[in-house]
Amino acid sequence: MSQKTLYEVILRMSKDPVVGSCVRVALSELGILFSDIVEQEDRKCRRLSVFYPTVKSARQLQKKFLSLRIKGVKVLLRTHDQHDWETRWKKGWKPFALTPRVHVIPCFIENAKCPVGKTPFYLDTTAAFGTGLHETTRFSAQLIEMNQGKFKSFLDVGTGTGILVAVALFSGASYTEAFDIDADAVKVAQDNLKVNHLKCNVLATCDVKHYKVRRSFDLVAANLITHDLVAFRDKIISCVAPGGQLIISGISLKNMALVKKTYNKAVGLKCLKVTQGKEWSAFLFRKVS
Ligand SMILES: C[S@@+](CC[C@H](N)C(=O)[O-])C[C@H]1O[C@@H](n2cnc3c(N)ncnc32)[C@H](O)[C@@H]1O
Repeated sequence: MSQKTLYEVILRMSKDPVVGSCVRVALSELGILFSDIVEQEDRKCRRLSVFYPTVKSARQLQKKFLSLRIKGVKVLLRTHDQHDWETRWKKGWKPFALTPRVHVIPCFIENAKCPVGKTPFYLDTTAAFGTGLHETTRFSAQLIEMNQGKFKSFLDVGTGTGILVAVALFSGASYTEAFDIDADAVKVAQDNLKVNHLKCNVLATCDVKHYKVRRSFDLVAANLITHDLVAFRDKIISCVAPGGQLIISGISLKNMALVKKTYNKAVGLKCLKVTQGKEWSAFLFRKVS
Protein backbone atom coordinates (compact mmCIF):
# COMPACT_ATOMS: atom_id res chain seq x y z
CA MET A 1 0.00 0.00 0.00
CA SER A 2 1.43 3.43 -0.89
CA GLN A 3 1.99 5.67 2.13
CA LYS A 4 1.16 9.33 1.76
CA THR A 5 3.01 11.96 3.74
CA LEU A 6 1.26 14.73 5.64
CA TYR A 7 2.88 17.99 6.70
CA GLU A 8 1.67 19.46 9.98
CA VAL A 9 2.11 23.13 10.77
CA ILE A 10 1.99 23.32 14.57
CA LEU A 11 1.28 26.57 16.38
CA ARG A 12 2.24 26.04 20.00
CA MET A 13 1.22 28.55 22.64
CA SER A 14 0.32 28.94 26.31
CA LYS A 15 -3.23 28.10 27.40
CA ASP A 16 -4.09 31.79 27.73
CA PRO A 17 -7.50 32.06 25.93
CA VAL A 18 -6.60 35.49 24.55
CA VAL A 19 -3.59 34.08 22.67
CA GLY A 20 -5.73 31.14 21.47
CA SER A 21 -8.44 33.42 20.03
CA CYS A 22 -5.87 35.69 18.47
CA VAL A 23 -4.28 32.72 16.65
CA ARG A 24 -7.67 31.36 15.50
CA VAL A 25 -8.62 34.77 14.07
CA ALA A 26 -5.22 35.05 12.37
CA LEU A 27 -5.65 31.59 10.80
CA SER A 28 -9.14 32.49 9.64
CA GLU A 29 -7.77 35.66 8.04
CA LEU A 30 -5.15 33.56 6.28
CA GLY A 31 -8.03 31.58 4.73
CA ILE A 32 -7.87 28.50 7.00
CA LEU A 33 -11.29 27.00 7.70
CA PHE A 34 -12.27 26.39 11.31
CA SER A 35 -12.87 22.75 10.42
CA ASP A 36 -9.30 22.35 9.19
CA ILE A 37 -7.76 23.29 12.52
CA VAL A 38 -6.98 20.42 14.88
CA GLU A 39 -6.83 21.66 18.46
CA GLN A 40 -5.02 19.74 21.19
CA GLU A 41 -3.86 20.66 24.65
CA ASP A 42 -1.95 19.16 27.52
CA ARG A 43 -1.35 20.44 31.03
CA LYS A 44 0.99 23.19 29.91
CA CYS A 45 0.24 24.31 26.39
CA ARG A 46 -2.21 24.40 23.49
CA ARG A 47 -1.42 23.36 19.94
CA LEU A 48 -3.38 24.33 16.85
CA SER A 49 -2.38 22.29 13.82
CA VAL A 50 -3.15 22.48 10.12
CA PHE A 51 -2.29 19.60 7.79
CA TYR A 52 -1.08 19.79 4.20
CA PRO A 53 -0.36 17.21 1.51
CA THR A 54 2.74 19.08 0.29
CA VAL A 55 5.67 20.58 2.14
CA LYS A 56 5.41 23.66 -0.10
CA SER A 57 1.89 24.55 1.07
CA ALA A 58 2.82 23.87 4.71
CA ARG A 59 5.85 26.15 4.43
CA GLN A 60 3.67 28.86 2.87
CA LEU A 61 1.40 28.91 5.91
CA GLN A 62 4.40 28.79 8.21
CA LYS A 63 5.91 31.80 6.46
CA LYS A 64 2.66 33.81 6.36
CA PHE A 65 1.97 33.11 10.01
CA LEU A 66 5.50 34.09 11.08
CA SER A 67 5.13 37.37 9.18
CA LEU A 68 2.23 38.30 11.51
CA ARG A 69 4.70 38.34 14.42
CA ILE A 70 2.18 37.14 17.01
CA LYS A 71 3.93 37.01 20.36
CA GLY A 72 4.01 33.83 22.44
CA VAL A 73 3.42 31.40 19.55
CA LYS A 74 6.01 28.88 18.41
CA VAL A 75 5.63 27.71 14.81
CA LEU A 76 6.84 24.19 13.98
CA LEU A 77 6.66 21.91 10.97
CA ARG A 78 6.33 18.14 11.41
CA THR A 79 6.19 15.35 8.85
CA HIS A 80 3.84 12.38 9.32
CA ASP A 81 3.10 9.21 7.57
CA GLN A 82 -0.65 9.66 6.89
CA HIS A 83 -1.59 6.17 8.05
CA ASP A 84 0.27 6.62 11.35
CA TRP A 85 -1.48 9.93 11.96
CA GLU A 86 -4.92 8.57 11.21
CA THR A 87 -4.52 5.72 13.67
CA ARG A 88 -2.63 7.68 16.35
CA TRP A 89 -5.26 10.41 16.91
CA LYS A 90 -7.97 7.78 17.23
CA LYS A 91 -6.27 6.33 20.31
CA GLY A 92 -7.30 9.27 22.47
CA TRP A 93 -10.92 9.34 21.32
CA LYS A 94 -13.29 7.22 23.37
CA PRO A 95 -17.11 7.04 23.63
CA PHE A 96 -18.48 9.80 25.85
CA ALA A 97 -21.71 11.44 27.04
CA LEU A 98 -22.41 14.52 24.92
CA THR A 99 -25.67 15.37 26.67
CA PRO A 100 -27.67 13.62 29.41
CA ARG A 101 -29.29 11.60 26.60
CA VAL A 102 -26.83 11.30 23.71
CA HIS A 103 -23.74 9.10 23.88
CA VAL A 104 -21.17 9.65 21.12
CA ILE A 105 -19.44 6.51 19.87
CA PRO A 106 -16.54 6.82 17.38
CA CYS A 107 -17.31 4.61 14.36
CA PHE A 108 -13.92 2.92 14.39
CA ILE A 109 -14.56 1.33 17.82
CA GLU A 110 -16.02 -2.07 17.07
CA ASN A 111 -18.73 -3.50 19.33
CA ALA A 112 -18.76 -0.40 21.56
CA LYS A 113 -21.67 -0.56 23.99
CA CYS A 114 -24.00 2.35 24.63
CA PRO A 115 -25.10 2.73 28.28
CA VAL A 116 -28.66 1.54 28.91
CA GLY A 117 -31.22 4.30 28.44
CA LYS A 118 -28.88 6.48 26.34
CA THR A 119 -29.16 7.20 22.62
CA PRO A 120 -25.99 6.36 20.66
CA PHE A 121 -24.68 8.62 17.93
CA TYR A 122 -22.04 6.84 15.84
CA LEU A 123 -19.61 9.43 14.59
CA ASP A 124 -16.71 9.44 12.18
CA THR A 125 -14.65 12.52 11.63
CA THR A 126 -11.21 13.03 10.28
CA ALA A 127 -12.21 16.06 8.25
CA ALA A 128 -14.91 18.03 9.99
CA PHE A 129 -15.25 19.99 13.23
CA GLY A 130 -17.72 18.58 15.72
CA THR A 131 -16.47 15.48 17.48
CA GLY A 132 -18.56 16.67 20.39
CA LEU A 133 -15.53 16.98 22.63
CA HIS A 134 -15.29 20.71 22.10
CA GLU A 135 -17.09 22.93 24.64
CA THR A 136 -18.81 24.89 21.86
CA THR A 137 -20.45 21.73 20.48
CA ARG A 138 -21.33 20.39 23.92
CA PHE A 139 -22.99 23.64 24.97
CA SER A 140 -25.06 23.79 21.76
CA ALA A 141 -26.07 20.13 22.05
CA GLN A 142 -27.14 20.56 25.66
CA LEU A 143 -29.19 23.66 24.86
CA ILE A 144 -30.92 21.78 22.02
CA GLU A 145 -31.72 18.82 24.25
CA MET A 146 -32.98 21.13 26.99
CA ASN A 147 -35.71 22.14 24.54
CA GLN A 148 -36.71 18.56 23.76
CA GLY A 149 -40.27 18.36 22.48
CA LYS A 150 -40.61 22.15 22.23
CA PHE A 151 -39.55 22.50 18.60
CA LYS A 152 -40.37 20.80 15.32
CA SER A 153 -38.14 22.54 12.79
CA PHE A 154 -34.39 23.04 13.24
CA LEU A 155 -31.64 24.83 11.29
CA ASP A 156 -27.92 24.18 11.87
CA VAL A 157 -25.70 27.00 10.58
CA GLY A 158 -22.18 25.56 10.10
CA THR A 159 -23.02 21.90 10.67
CA GLY A 160 -19.52 20.34 10.72
CA THR A 161 -20.06 16.62 11.38
CA GLY A 162 -23.85 17.05 11.54
CA ILE A 163 -23.80 16.27 15.27
CA LEU A 164 -26.27 19.02 16.22
CA VAL A 165 -28.75 17.85 13.56
CA ALA A 166 -28.60 14.42 15.19
CA VAL A 167 -29.24 15.88 18.65
CA ALA A 168 -32.16 17.92 17.26
CA LEU A 169 -33.66 14.80 15.66
CA PHE A 170 -33.22 12.84 18.90
CA SER A 171 -34.92 15.74 20.70
CA GLY A 172 -38.05 15.53 18.56
CA ALA A 173 -37.37 17.67 15.45
CA SER A 174 -39.38 16.50 12.44
CA TYR A 175 -37.87 18.90 9.87
CA THR A 176 -34.17 19.80 9.74
CA GLU A 177 -31.94 21.85 7.48
CA ALA A 178 -28.20 22.36 7.74
CA PHE A 179 -25.39 23.92 5.76
CA ASP A 180 -21.64 24.41 5.94
CA ILE A 181 -19.17 26.46 3.96
CA ASP A 182 -16.93 23.39 3.70
CA ALA A 183 -18.00 20.75 1.15
CA ASP A 184 -15.93 18.08 2.98
CA ALA A 185 -17.85 18.76 6.19
CA VAL A 186 -21.16 18.38 4.33
CA LYS A 187 -20.05 15.00 3.01
CA VAL A 188 -18.95 13.92 6.51
CA ALA A 189 -22.30 15.11 7.95
CA GLN A 190 -24.21 13.20 5.24
CA ASP A 191 -22.28 10.00 6.03
CA ASN A 192 -22.68 10.38 9.79
CA LEU A 193 -26.43 10.89 9.54
CA LYS A 194 -26.77 7.94 7.16
CA VAL A 195 -24.81 5.60 9.45
CA ASN A 196 -27.22 6.55 12.26
CA HIS A 197 -30.32 6.13 10.02
CA LEU A 198 -31.13 9.82 10.44
CA LYS A 199 -32.33 12.18 7.74
CA CYS A 200 -31.67 15.88 7.31
CA ASN A 201 -34.24 17.32 4.90
CA VAL A 202 -31.82 19.82 3.36
CA LEU A 203 -28.04 19.54 3.76
CA ALA A 204 -26.02 21.91 1.59
CA THR A 205 -22.67 23.54 1.03
CA CYS A 206 -23.17 27.26 1.54
CA ASP A 207 -21.51 30.28 3.13
CA VAL A 208 -23.77 32.01 5.65
CA LYS A 209 -22.89 35.19 3.77
CA HIS A 210 -24.74 33.90 0.68
CA TYR A 211 -27.44 31.90 2.47
CA LYS A 212 -30.94 32.84 1.25
CA VAL A 213 -33.53 32.79 4.02
CA ARG A 214 -36.53 30.98 2.55
CA ARG A 215 -38.33 29.92 5.70
CA SER A 216 -38.07 30.25 9.46
CA PHE A 217 -37.36 27.57 12.08
CA ASP A 218 -38.53 26.88 15.64
CA LEU A 219 -34.92 26.42 16.71
CA VAL A 220 -31.72 27.65 15.05
CA ALA A 221 -28.17 26.79 16.17
CA ALA A 222 -25.13 28.72 14.92
CA ASN A 223 -21.77 27.58 16.29
CA LEU A 224 -19.52 29.97 14.36
CA ILE A 225 -16.63 32.33 14.94
CA THR A 226 -17.53 35.62 16.64
CA HIS A 227 -16.81 37.61 13.51
CA ASP A 228 -19.54 35.73 11.59
CA LEU A 229 -22.01 35.77 14.49
CA VAL A 230 -21.67 39.55 14.62
CA ALA A 231 -21.50 40.23 10.87
CA PHE A 232 -24.50 38.00 10.03
CA ARG A 233 -26.54 38.65 13.17
CA ASP A 234 -29.62 39.94 11.34
CA LYS A 235 -29.62 37.11 8.80
CA ILE A 236 -29.22 34.47 11.54
CA ILE A 237 -32.05 36.03 13.58
CA SER A 238 -34.29 36.22 10.51
CA CYS A 239 -34.11 32.40 10.29
CA VAL A 240 -35.88 32.10 13.67
CA ALA A 241 -39.69 31.89 13.67
CA PRO A 242 -41.61 34.27 15.94
CA GLY A 243 -41.67 32.64 19.37
CA GLY A 244 -38.77 30.38 18.29
CA GLN A 245 -35.34 30.08 19.84
CA LEU A 246 -31.77 30.77 18.80
CA ILE A 247 -28.57 29.17 20.10
CA ILE A 248 -25.31 30.90 19.34
CA SER A 249 -22.02 29.30 20.30
CA GLY A 250 -18.32 29.44 19.46
CA ILE A 251 -17.85 32.58 21.55
CA SER A 252 -14.61 32.80 23.51
CA LEU A 253 -14.96 34.39 26.96
CA LYS A 254 -12.99 37.37 25.64
CA ASN A 255 -15.69 38.00 23.01
CA MET A 256 -18.68 37.36 25.27
CA ALA A 257 -19.37 41.00 26.08
CA LEU A 258 -19.24 42.02 22.40
CA VAL A 259 -21.61 39.26 21.26
CA LYS A 260 -23.98 39.84 24.17
CA LYS A 261 -24.14 43.55 23.39
CA THR A 262 -24.63 42.93 19.66
CA TYR A 263 -27.47 40.42 20.15
CA ASN A 264 -29.12 42.27 23.04
CA LYS A 265 -29.45 45.27 20.71
CA ALA A 266 -31.48 43.22 18.23
CA VAL A 267 -35.16 44.09 18.43
CA GLY A 268 -37.43 41.36 19.79
CA LEU A 269 -34.71 39.05 21.06
CA LYS A 270 -34.70 38.03 24.72
CA CYS A 271 -31.74 36.25 26.33
CA LEU A 272 -32.95 33.14 28.17
CA LYS A 273 -29.70 31.48 29.16
CA VAL A 274 -25.95 31.94 29.06
CA THR A 275 -23.67 28.90 29.34
CA GLN A 276 -20.12 29.68 30.29
CA GLY A 277 -17.21 27.25 30.41
CA LYS A 278 -13.49 27.59 30.99
CA GLU A 279 -12.89 29.19 27.64
CA TRP A 280 -16.11 29.32 25.65
CA SER A 281 -19.67 30.50 26.05
CA ALA A 282 -23.03 29.99 24.37
CA PHE A 283 -26.31 31.91 24.48
CA LEU A 284 -29.95 30.90 24.16
CA PHE A 285 -32.40 33.56 22.98
CA ARG A 286 -36.11 33.68 22.30
CA LYS A 287 -37.57 35.72 19.43
CA VAL A 288 -40.43 37.39 21.20
CA SER A 289 -42.13 39.25 18.41
C1 LIG B 1 -17.29 25.43 15.30
S1 LIG B 1 -17.71 24.44 13.93
C2 LIG B 1 -19.31 23.85 14.47
C3 LIG B 1 -19.66 22.49 13.93
C4 LIG B 1 -20.88 21.85 14.58
N1 LIG B 1 -22.09 22.61 14.30
C5 LIG B 1 -20.68 21.75 16.09
O1 LIG B 1 -21.38 22.43 16.83
O2 LIG B 1 -19.78 21.01 16.49
C6 LIG B 1 -18.14 25.66 12.73
C7 LIG B 1 -18.56 25.07 11.41
O3 LIG B 1 -19.05 26.15 10.63
C8 LIG B 1 -18.48 26.10 9.34
N2 LIG B 1 -18.39 27.49 8.87
C9 LIG B 1 -17.41 28.39 9.15
N3 LIG B 1 -17.68 29.55 8.54
C10 LIG B 1 -18.87 29.38 7.88
C11 LIG B 1 -19.65 30.23 7.06
N4 LIG B 1 -19.27 31.47 6.78
N5 LIG B 1 -20.80 29.74 6.53
C12 LIG B 1 -21.18 28.45 6.79
N6 LIG B 1 -20.45 27.60 7.55
C13 LIG B 1 -19.31 28.06 8.11
C14 LIG B 1 -17.15 25.42 9.52
O4 LIG B 1 -16.74 24.80 8.31
C15 LIG B 1 -17.42 24.44 10.64
O5 LIG B 1 -17.79 23.18 10.17
